[in-house]
Amino acid sequence: MLTLAIIKPDAVSRAKMGAVLAHLERDGFVVRAARLVRLTRPEAEAFYAVHRERPFFKSLVAFMTSGPCLPLVLEREQAVSRLREVIGATEPAEAAPGTVRKLYAESKERNAIHASDSPENAQREVGFFFPKAELEGLWG
Ligand code: CMP
Repeated sequence: MLTLAIIKPDAVSRAKMGAVLAHLERDGFVVRAARLVRLTRPEAEAFYAVHRERPFFKSLVAFMTSGPCLPLVLEREQAVSRLREVIGATEPAEAAPGTVRKLYAESKERNAIHASDSPENAQREVGFFFPKAELEGLWG
């Protein structure tokens, strides 16, 4: 099963990308695709369109376009639910000990990593960053 993660600009700029990747690989995730990208504003707005009406939307888009991030296609059994467990709660202060956000996130917004929240969104989000994933056989 596949899911999408994004190592966010806060983790990349503080040179935590490798540590976060190692954490995920230790938990059994295999990287099937990766791309270091700096999102444009329209891209960040489109990716997070579901949050358009939220008070934090503008700030979230500014943060996500502030520097490069690393979208990843990850494979593992139960990938979507397991990745959500491994990254921890959105608010790092509430994240369980040993989770990626507990270890590496700075705040609720600058929270180091994004993960798809359902198999349907995983497919949509993989396609957002890796439009040729289907052609490359990633979905089996
Ligand atoms: P993510 O899992 O990528 O999904 C939406 C993002 O919006 C979230 O991680 C945070 O980066 C950000 N976010 C969610 N809630 C808040 C909030 N209350 N204040 C600021 N940023 C938030």
